[in-house]
Amino acid sequence: MVVRVGVLGATGAVGQRLIQLLDPHPEFELAALTASDSSAGKTYRQAAKWRVDSPIPSDVAEMTVQATEPDAIPDDIDLLFSSLPSSVGAAVEPGFCEAGYVVSSNSSNGRMDDDVPLVIPEINAEHLDLLEVQRDERGWDGALIKNPNCSTITFVPTLAALTEFGLEKVHVSTLQAVSGAGYDGVTSMEIIDNAIPYIGSEEDKLETESRKLLGEFDGASLTHNDMAVSASCNRIPTIDGHLENVWVETEDELDAAAAAEAMEAFPSLDLHSSPEPLIHVFDEPDRPQPRMDRTVGGGMAIAAGGMQETPFGLQYNCLAHNTIRGAAGASVLNGELLAENGYF
Ligand SMILES: NC(=O)c1ccc[n+]([C@@H]2O[C@H](COP(=O)([O-])OP(=O)(O)OC[C@H]3O[C@@H](n4cnc5c(N)ncnc54)[C@H](OP(=O)(O)O)[C@@H]3O)[C@@H](O)[C@H]2O)c1
Repeated sequence: MVVRVGVLGATGAVGQRLIQLLDPHPEFELAALTASDSSAGKTYRQAAKWRVDSPIPSDVAEMTVQATEPDAIPDDIDLLFSSLPSSVGAAVEPGFCEAGYVVSSNSSNGRMDDDVPLVIPEINAEHLDLLEVQRDERGWDGALIKNPNCSTITFVPTLAALTEFGLEKVHVSTLQAVSGAGYDGVTSMEIIDNAIPYIGSEEDKLETESRKLLGEFDGASLTHNDMAVSASCNRIPTIDGHLENVWVETEDELDAAAAAEAMEAFPSLDLHSSPEPLIHVFDEPDRPQPRMDRTVGGGMAIAAGGMQETPFGLQYNCLAHNTIRGAAGASVLNGELLAENGYF
């Protein structure tokens, strides 16, 4: 069965990646695009400053961009991928869910709500059942599912691979690409020849979302993981790919070889966009690197390397493509998980 889908915020950095990943997709057919009022009514070619590394699909280029409101979406669409600024997402996503649409969203609004599943399918697919709690509490025919922040997605799969050792303390320092801030995020004068040791609200997202993702769902409520997480976030002048340095202290002894083995063996899923393997472990001490390794697994894998034992626990580096695995690909994968679980 092919599910008809739409993209909210289709002209932005993540929206463009969504269009690229949906052209074509074996389970989804793209049938609606929305953006701000200044883009509504234009063809997609006129409205979007297309910047991704393949041409605009020709049929998409001539589609008309709609206003971001439920009445503008055809009734036969079941699933909406949302890549709206979070303030806009907070204002409009609940209305789409109330109108019966299932929304798979990148925006940060609602990610930490008790009845909103925050999902990386290979890590915590069982949290999807929170949607039953959500529908009971909110009375929606639709539903809202979130994927985590792009820098959270980069390191949480590596932590998931190490949970058997008993995660106690985690420190993560990020080196984040400029595309993570959206097209209008940082100016060239700010970032060229520079690094910015502050990304508003980002540290809190890594610290809280990671504990929710690795939490336990008992069928009614979710208990967050009790590991301590400290994050420090930096913007650097790469285009795509967030690199992160991670230190992990565990209850049981953990050496570099055991960590590499656990990450390599961590299972992926059989969903269309799940990479095999999920975590690609490099032997070379100077990998992963953003320019060379951000497209590992089609941009959906996590790259890891540089494992070493330190006085502050096991240290390693990990990397993911922030607009593919960290955003658009994460939403599409959640859509595939919803489809596999009979939501359409
Ligand atoms: N970039 C990343 O790596 C990344 C990773 C994870 C999560 N996210 C999240 O994904 C979301 C989108 O990020 P982005 O980087 O794609 O942002 P972006 O490039 O700024 O794009 C924003 C999109 O939202 C639309 N929009 C803006 N204001 C609107 C309004 N008032 N009503 C309706 N549509 C509106 C824009 O349409 P117009 O073109 O018409 O203005 C555009 O399509 C954000 O919540 C972001 O935090 C981004």
